[in-house]
Amino acid sequence: MSAQPRFLIFILILHFLHLITCFHCHAIKIKSTAPLHYPCRPPHHNSHPFCNTSLPFKARAQSLISLLTLDEKIQQLSNNASAVPRLGIPHYEWWSESLHGVADDGPGVSFNGSIKSATSFPQIILAAAAFNRSSWAAVAAAIAVEAKAMNNAGQAGLTFWAPNINIFRDPRWGRGQETPGEDPMVASAYAIQYVRAFEGRNRNKNKNKFDQKRRVLRNDDDDDKLMLSACCKHFTAYDLEKWGQFTRYNFNAVHALITISYKKLELIGISEGDIFKSVFLMKKNSNAKTYAHVLNIITNRYITSDCDAVATIYEYHNYTKTPEDAVAAALKAGTDINCGTYMLRHMKSAIEQEKVLEEDIDKALLNLFVVQIRLGLFDGDSARNQFRELGAQDVCTSDHRKLALEAAKQGIVLLKNEQKLLPLDKRDISSLAVIGPLANSTNLGGGYTGVPCNPKSILKGLQDYINNIYHAAGCQDAPCNSSTYFAEAIAVAKEAEYVVVVAGLDLSQETEDFDRYSLLLPGYQMELVTAVAEVSDKPLILVLTGGGPIDVSFAVGDPSIGSIVWIGYPGETGGRALAEIIFGDYNPGGRLPMTWYPESFTTVPMSDMNMRPDPSRNYPGRTYRFYTGDRIYGFGHGLSYTTFTYTLLSAPNTLKIPESIKPRQLRNTLYNIGNRHNYIYIDEIPYCSSLTFEVQISVTNNGDIDGSEVVLLFSKASKKFKGSPEKQLIGFERVNVLSYGSGESRFLVDPCEHLSFADEHGNRILPIGDHILISENIEHVVSIET
Ligand SMILES: *[C@@H]1O[C@H](CO)[C@@H](O)[C@H](O)[C@H]1NC(C)=O
Ligand SMILES: *[C@@H]1O[C@H](CO)[C@@H](O)[C@H](O)[C@H]1NC(C)=O
Ligand SMILES: *[C@@H]1O[C@H](CO)[C@@H](O)[C@H](O)[C@H]1NC(C)=O
Ligand SMILES: *[C@@H]1O[C@H](CO)[C@@H](O)[C@H](O)[C@H]1NC(C)=O
Ligand SMILES: *[C@@H]1O[C@H](CO)[C@@H](O)[C@H](O)[C@H]1NC(C)=O
Ligand SMILES: *[C@@H]1O[C@H](CO)[C@@H](O)[C@H](O)[C@H]1NC(C)=O
Ligand SMILES: *[C@@H]1O[C@H](CO)[C@@H](O)[C@H](O)[C@H]1NC(C)=O
Repeated sequence: MSAQPRFLIFILILHFLHLITCFHCHAIKIKSTAPLHYPCRPPHHNSHPFCNTSLPFKARAQSLISLLTLDEKIQQLSNNASAVPRLGIPHYEWWSESLHGVADDGPGVSFNGSIKSATSFPQIILAAAAFNRSSWAAVAAAIAVEAKAMNNAGQAGLTFWAPNINIFRDPRWGRGQETPGEDPMVASAYAIQYVRAFEGRNRNKNKNKFDQKRRVLRNDDDDDKLMLSACCKHFTAYDLEKWGQFTRYNFNAVHALITISYKKLELIGISEGDIFKSVFLMKKNSNAKTYAHVLNIITNRYITSDCDAVATIYEYHNYTKTPEDAVAAALKAGTDINCGTYMLRHMKSAIEQEKVLEEDIDKALLNLFVVQIRLGLFDGDSARNQFRELGAQDVCTSDHRKLALEAAKQGIVLLKNEQKLLPLDKRDISSLAVIGPLANSTNLGGGYTGVPCNPKSILKGLQDYINNIYHAAGCQDAPCNSSTYFAEAIAVAKEAEYVVVVAGLDLSQETEDFDRYSLLLPGYQMELVTAVAEVSDKPLILVLTGGGPIDVSFAVGDPSIGSIVWIGYPGETGGRALAEIIFGDYNPGGRLPMTWYPESFTTVPMSDMNMRPDPSRNYPGRTYRFYTGDRIYGFGHGLSYTTFTYTLLSAPNTLKIPESIKPRQLRNTLYNIGNRHNYIYIDEIPYCSSLTFEVQISVTNNGDIDGSEVVLLFSKASKKFKGSPEKQLIGFERVNVLSYGSGESRFLVDPCEHLSFADEHGNRILPIGDHILISENIEHVVSIET
């Protein structure tokens, strides 16, 4: 690398900025950037057309661009955008974080003003396990209130770089915890809820599911002002931190397939065009390498690079011959800002060398200024704006704490419960031992945790619930590198009637820039669990923390371990949430949003991004859609204190493709010669919505305790095609069902979207013939006919 030392240090700092506890972050933290003045308010330049609020946002942005010099324009192409004092434009920091609560991982947020902390909601992998769209939206709306309050207090920006929409492709991935799991349909459903609620769109509108769907399709609020702006990150195949010689900075993800449902993302304001514009950089020459972390995709049509990804195009990847070519390539591929300084440093010479035209920069600025104007950065909030008064009194409120608790309870997954060991009866129980290195931890927030309001350990949560609790850590910490403290744990376990062991992962095992190598419990944790189980009177209750799956096969079949409960990173109310579940005040209903693979999966190279199995090289495939090997627990696994029976109320048996939408040509696979017309390329059908049908399912609660059930509807083509999934999720809905009562779930199934899949070449095909709809005990065949 030819850069100057100071610059190199800066790049390195930027690379590490995403680490949540990284001290570099604090070293360069700048004071918050919320404007204390607005360019279009007195005493500033409110006579300029860019301040004329009767003009459309775009016209205002264009007017501002026309007033800027080239140097001033270049100074805008960074997360740390410079002020333009002569026009009253303040400096703006684009980079704030809000994954599961406002967090100070980026320079835009600081907790050292009048607001000292913010609610820490459950990490996304646990929130996702609730499979409850309203809960996702309610949490995102609450985070937005706290974020806006912090902005009003000068402690946060208005642009936040969340959610993380990558799928959880490999169980070892240190950032899998930040995602809604391994299913692309769930990931896009989560992203839609998060972005819409966080940005304050449709805040007070009708919540009806079908109405909402229609409104989303119209996208009628596209030109509205925004309360805040969310950012979907990262580019697909960003699913690896550091594994062997691979890091996310040098990894060439050539085999990456596009996995998120882009159609759905369009509904929240990202068009396929935006995405493919950014893909263009990577695909434009056949030797191009696909560097996973190069681009963040931001909604509302601005795109930022990851930090400091533009530099890596040249410095690490050698994709270009000069830094000027790198900034030109990034800008032309659709990057509007560069998190870092590379564009600031090299754009001027790129212009001088005629690699970039001023118009190219203007295009980026148009995107940026339109977002800023929509956010009110120029005009301030109007007197009517309900968010203007938000302040410290709206952060860490008891309502937000309740919501965090509710989200944690809904997400927690009961993996095993032999002989109905759980729930325990709190009036009946004489004593409880709470053992394990994570039992007394107050750091169970997961990556991108800011400063929680009132973090409590699992131990404290249980202690607040009942008396007579004994505690021993058993291991010094999560790595648990010795059995020195086992004796104390065993003694405590012998004393108590029931024993809970809190084991698993924390950020010392999995985090940004840090993947796991093993799926087993760290260090001597397994030995601790087994030793304690051996001496405990009643079967043990094993509570597992962490975002990534853990191979606990030793515990699955062991009768001395009666229950296993996964709590992910439950956030600041996790102790209370677990206590309510253990003592039966809440009936668990969470489901795993990712496959729990056995340790043997670790022979699969993490760098192999293929989803589909390849028997010729012993490659087992990834996620429930393609993986056919053994699993500890499958996608969607989760128990309740009651049982449910499913009944199909309605679904069609056949669907006839009308002449009007029939493609010119129906295809045959090579593998089914003789069987005519066995699939359609869905790209060749003008539309498919006329084939949309409804599936109605009734769920009956067979027990004497109320419960909520996550209804998952899958589809599977009865014919095998090369590249076809084992099954795929069509939809999900969480329903409350009273004891001995029943609830109903309705799904709209669009065959082009839900019954199709990508073939081995990446083309989406819809097989003609039988499709099987699967939901728990229901299997129903729908036949598509031509
Ligand atoms: C603001 O824009 C509107 C619409 O173009 C125009 O009619 C009006 O004269 C403008 N106001 C000022 C002060 O320029
Ligand atoms: C942000 O830019 C300003 C100049 O506009 C500069 O003074 C400041 O040091 C920069 N901050 C960082 C973190 O680079
Ligand atoms: C915030 O922290 C920085 C240093 O970390 C300090 O210089 C600054 O004065 C603090 N601001 C407030 C409002 O406490
Ligand atoms: C990129 O080029 C530099 C020399 O300019 C070289 O040191 C480095 O190894 C190259 N990196 C890669 C990934 O090829
Ligand atoms: C739990 O940890 C806190 C500090 O984090 C400590 O004060 C307390 O004594 C610990 N409790 C037990 C029972 O070890
Ligand atoms: C175990 O961890 C402790 C601190 O956590 C450390 O001092 C000790 O050296 C470690 N022992 C081994 C064998 O790694
Ligand atoms: C879904 O979440 C909302 C908001 O927390 C809650 O009111 C509702 O009861 C949840 N639904 C189910 C079925 O658990």
